[in-house]
Amino acid sequence: MSSIIEIRNVTKEFKVLNRREGLKGSIKDLFSRDYKTVTAVNNISMSIEQGEIVGYLGPNGAGKSTTIKMMTGVLEPTSGEILVDGNVPYKNRSKNAQNIGVVFGQRSQLWWALPLIESFRLLKDVYQIGDKQYDSIIELYKSLVDIEPLLHKPVRQMSLGQRTLSDILAAFLHDPKIVFLDEPTIGLDVSMKAKIRTLINALNKEKNTTVILTTHDMGDVDALCRRIVIIDKGKMLYDNDIEHLKSFFGSYRTLKIRVDGDLKKQSEVIQKEVPDFAVSADDEWISVLVDEDKKKVVDVLSQLQSSYSIKDMKLEEISSEDVIRKIYEEGVE
Ligand SMILES: Nc1ncnc2c1ncn2[C@@H]1O[C@H](COP(=O)(O)OP(=O)(O)O)[C@@H](O)[C@H]1O
Ligand SMILES: [Mg+2]
Repeated sequence: MSSIIEIRNVTKEFKVLNRREGLKGSIKDLFSRDYKTVTAVNNISMSIEQGEIVGYLGPNGAGKSTTIKMMTGVLEPTSGEILVDGNVPYKNRSKNAQNIGVVFGQRSQLWWALPLIESFRLLKDVYQIGDKQYDSIIELYKSLVDIEPLLHKPVRQMSLGQRTLSDILAAFLHDPKIVFLDEPTIGLDVSMKAKIRTLINALNKEKNTTVILTTHDMGDVDALCRRIVIIDKGKMLYDNDIEHLKSFFGSYRTLKIRVDGDLKKQSEVIQKEVPDFAVSADDEWISVLVDEDKKKVVDVLSQLQSSYSIKDMKLEEISSEDVIRKIYEEGVE
């Protein structure tokens, strides 16, 4: 069986103007332009199977959106091959469009002034969705989310969360084989994120839709993705199960403690005390990511207890968030 998405040795370069500084520089730029090449995606290969939910991760500027734009046919690769359900996306854009749905977080694809139901009806025409299929997907949507209050609301009057929800529903409307979600949960509150994760999981299950998701939120990854692909500076760093990745970091434990005072400030002080380990703070806990090959957690704890009055503590396995952060910092080896 062939994969729904095949990417082979794909590279994308952009030529960008190297701007010179100051007024003199700007005047020089007028006469002779100095270009440099940015390699946004650097020799990436992967195969994705129908029905997978893949987390496509990497820091800002890693090349995630560029890869997605090539898969959706918006950009042409500089070299290499992409096949999406057997089509070369940039050569066969309208055929490809039938097979895919796309959501770019914070940029709605919907008609701003129209109530959602009108956008849906337009999409029904655009994608030539039959009446029966259309009715059944609307029924499915009604069973999954409370869409009644959204249907008659113009998109511009919606909250960011409602708009994102609507965008996702619109992307799945024509029952595409693949949906690309580029940072769909950015800026959303916790409850809306949870709603959207449940929705994506349900649609993936119900329709066996392949989902490619980029996100900075490890909660999205934990809730949705078994497989993750990590890129940085255009290069692929990792492609496998998230659990497999965690086992690379088997000697790491997260020590969480609570102390008096401002946790953020205290965490900075504690960082100086244990310079080998990353210390961070949220609203509730100070976290110390301990590598037990270097020092046992109990020893770190007793070291900290001698200087701070520790109110509460707990120990956790390394989180996805910590794993990803470490990969960005150090790579996998
Ligand atoms: N249209 C473009 N022209 C020039 N450079 C671009 C363009 N699009 C993206 N880039 C550059 O390519 C790199 C990858 O960008 P992008 O794919 O948007 O990263 P990500 O989505 O992972 O944050 C960045 O250095 C970015 O500045
Ligand atoms: Mg991006």
